[in-house]
Amino acid sequence: MVTGGRNYFCEMKKSVLFVCLGNICRSPMAAAIFNHQIAKMGLDSAFFADSCGTGDYHIGQGADSRTLAAVEKQGVAITHTVRQLQADDFENFDHILVMDQQNYRNTLRVADAHHHPKVELIRTYDPDGGIEVPDPYYGTPQDFDETFLILNRSIQRFISTHLT
Ligand code: 4NP
Repeated sequence: MVTGGRNYFCEMKKSVLFVCLGNICRSPMAAAIFNHQIAKMGLDSAFFADSCGTGDYHIGQGADSRTLAAVEKQGVAITHTVRQLQADDFENFDHILVMDQQNYRNTLRVADAHHHPKVELIRTYDPDGGIEVPDPYYGTPQDFDETFLILNRSIQRFISTHLT
């Protein structure tokens, strides 16, 4: 049930959905970092996070092994099963944070909208600037470490912006 602009997961929590293409690299990393940060800040009761992909290539799989390595070496726990973005995500989540412009367009297509107030590029929150979180899928382990840093600082800013 959806009530008062909040989601059905918990009416007291702000819910955040991270979106990338395959849901094995960037967005599950983002959800893990988000959960780590809110736990450290004692804000578990204020936020709920999930992730998904606009593509269907990896549905049912876990996160990429390089994603697991990059987050675990930072002491961040991750459990994940790939799922695809669906139309009711736009009702169920308060914020939908997308990794790049192609997936931003694909996300709006699922919403059947040219603009959607809940959908933003996550690097809107990057204090260092930037537009897209580069896709590390064809990259090196170092690219996954760089992805971690971009997401970590963007999520920190997102949480502080939406704390109230
Ligand atoms: P992600 O990376 O969107 O950050 O999960 C990718 C993962 C898989 C593919 C592309 C990007 N793929 O083409 O399978």
